[in-house]
This record gives sequence, C-alpha cells and structure tokens, in this order.
Amino acid sequence: MRILVTGGLGYIGSHTVVELLANDYDVSIVDNLYNSNIHVLDRIEKLTSKSATFYQVDILDKEALEKVFQKEHFDAVIHFAGYKAVGESVAIPLTYYQNNIAGSLNLYELMHKYGVEKIVFSSSATVYGDDFAVPFKEEYGLGTTTNPYGTTKKFNEIILSDLAKAKQIGSAILLRYFNPIGAHESGLLGEVPNGIPNNLVPYIARVASGKLDKLRVFGNDYDTIDGTGVRDYIHVVDLAKAHVLALDYSFKHEGVEVFNIGTGKGYSVLEVLHAYERACQKKLPYEIVARRPGDIASCFADCSKAQALLGFKAQYDIDKMCEDSYRFTVMNPDGIDK
Ligand code: NAD
Ligand code: WQD
Repeated sequence: MRILVTGGLGYIGSHTVVELLANDYDVSIVDNLYNSNIHVLDRIEKLTSKSATFYQVDILDKEALEKVFQKEHFDAVIHFAGYKAVGESVAIPLTYYQNNIAGSLNLYELMHKYGVEKIVFSSSATVYGDDFAVPFKEEYGLGTTTNPYGTTKKFNEIILSDLAKAKQIGSAILLRYFNPIGAHESGLLGEVPNGIPNNLVPYIARVASGKLDKLRVFGNDYDTIDGTGVRDYIHVVDLAKAHVLALDYSFKHEGVEVFNIGTGKGYSVLEVLHAYERACQKKLPYEIVARRPGDIASCFADCSKAQALLGFKAQYDIDKMCEDSYRFTVMNPDGIDK
C-alpha cells in the first residue's frame, strides 16, 4: 500500500516515514522544503535501508500537486504539511490561513478527484483552547482557539468532518498531538528550529549546547506542582508510531474519529529542565520571568480512547525524551546539514 505523506521531511513527518517504511508501507513524500531539507531524505534511507519517493512540491501549487496524484495512486494520505509557529501566526495570519487552509483544500480536492479515501491529519491539543478542565477528552469537542495557528487546525477538523459526512472522504482520523519532543535515538533525525526556539525543549537544548545563556521560565505562579506550566510531552517516535496505528484503523473504519495523542502525564517546566540536566549531566541556568501571554497552566491528555481503539500507548518517558533530544543536539550542532 502506498501512502502520500505531505510535510514528510519535517520533524514529525520524517519520524513517521521511518515507521511507515519499517511497517512495509510504500511512501511518497510531498514537501516544499520550507522548514526541512533534502538531507533528511538520505537519513531516512540510511536508517531504514529503504527508499521513499520524493516530490519537491508546494501544496499551494495545485497543478504541481495534481501531477503527483496523476503519477501514482495512493491508498491514504498523512497530512503534516503546514506552518506551526503560534506567535508568527498572530503576526501574519493570512499566510497561516493560506498555507494551512488553502493548501489543505487543494489536497482534499485532489484526494476526492483521484479517489483517495483515507486521511490522517495532524491536529493539535491547541484546539481545546482554554475552555475545558484537564485532562482533555476528545468528547469535549472544539474549544475557543486563541491564535490563528490553532484556528487553522480547528477549521481543518471541521472541513474533514464535513467531507466525511458528505462521503467525499471515506475516513478521516484527526490526531490531536500534545507536546512532541525528543528525537530518533540514532541521532540522525530530530527537530531543527529556525532562529531562537519558541518551544521549551528546543530552547533548553540550545542552553545545554552553550548556544543560549539560560532558560527563561515563563511564570512560576500557576496553580501547578511547582508554579510553572505543566504539559503532556510525548516522544516523537511514539507519536510517529501512533500514525501507523491510526492508518491501520482508517483502513478498517469509515467516518471521522478524533484521538488525543500524548502520554496522559503532565510535567512542569522545571521538571523538564531537571530531566534535561540528567540527560546532559550538567546544571542548566534559568531565571523566572513573567508569564507568556496566551499560556495556560496545565495541558494534558486523557489518552484512554487512543489506547482502547488504536491500541496506542506511549512507551518512552521524559528521561528518554531528553536523552534523545540531547544526543541529536550534540550530533548535529549545525542542524541536519549533510
Ligand atoms: P515541521 O515544520 O517540522 O514540518 C512540516 C513540513 O511541512 C516541513 O518539512 C515543511 O517544509 C513542510 N511544508 C510546510 N508548508 C508546506 C507546503 N505549503 N507545501 C509542502 N510542504 C510544506 O513541523 P512538525 O513539527 O513536523 O509538524 C507537523 C504537523 O504537525 C504540522 O501540521 C503541525 O502544525 C502539526 N503539529 C505539530 C506540533 C509540534 O509541536 N511540533 C504539535 C501539534 C501539531
Ligand atoms: C511549554 C511550556 C511555556 C519556552 C506549543 C503550541 C501547541 C503545540 C505544541 C503545535 C509552557 C514554557 C516555553 C520557554 C518556558 N504546537 N516555556 N520558556 O505552548 O505548550 O505548545 O507547542 O500544535 O499548539 O502552542 O509549548 O514548548 O512553547 O511551552 O517557560 O522559553 O514551557 O510557558 O508552560 P506549548 P512550549
């Protein structure tokens, strides 16, 4: 079976392609290399001793994307391609709506035209907004999103649900990721943020490698274990494996299904920092600064639905996540540049 993976050279996409190849799927990747590079493809091939077909195509370019659908038949799509920086989406919302919504519409239209019936979509815990109490459950539905990025995820969920209701898509699996971190344990694949990282673990990784002086902890007056924000961090390889299970599920079921993909356990900022200190075996400097606007105190998942229906349970703990992140950081001081 051949799977089209959009954004397949990105952080989560590349780890998922590895798992798909390991599970004997044939894989075609569409990526415009906006936030990735071609060396990732070589690394995937090195890791799996298998190859994936690569198309350097922007999903906003419908003609180019259609050529891909004309060339090959796909049994399913996993759709990662999109922009993901929350702060940037507030500054340039139109760009986010264009890429994440118009780009997705091109893809969905071509799937319909070429009879591709199954899709797994990268959604986010951000669609819960700040309307609900933790742990977040799928049945809560969609909350009030607090930034354009989150709104693009919410719209995509609504669009795919409508397409499934109209039977213009056979099955849509919406995976709401919590906080993916870590890297492939080979050190060959991982996250390479552009510029100064916005997210916690990439930032800590730069402190650990001496590129940034200290972590700024955004607030220690939340109602949490130590006052700092609590999140449900999940190892990217666990998350990648969840996609294979979701794909298998999509082949056996019709309609829309939403799943939280996390570990179900929350860690505070300071707990993550200390886990990273254990991984890199040194003290990492930090200071407490003001809360970051838009942050909530706690965000973690109720993961029982994914366990019951997909058979998914995350394997890796916070120490393994930090160890793998640190190994990737040490092995790739300039990112994935060769
Ligand atoms: P990423 O930026 O590493 O990967 C996205 C890939 O899509 C990149 O390789 C990029 O070049 C490509 N891309 C972007 N726009 C494109 C376009 N118009 N045409 C073709 N390719 C395009 O991001 P990631 O962390 O791997 O995230 C993957 C998906 O998961 C995204 O949709 C993201 O919103 C979602 N998500 C990520 C997180 C997270 O914390 N990383 C959490 C929840 C959801
Ligand atoms: C985690 C915790 C911060 C940086 C974001 C998106 C979400 C999803 C995952 C895509 C918070 C604190 C952070 C720093 C800090 N992405 N922090 N100092 O905000 O939970 O989620 O990524 O869908 O949509 O919003 O992740 O890693 O930015 O923050 O103290 O320099 O770390 O306040 O408590 P977040 P994060």
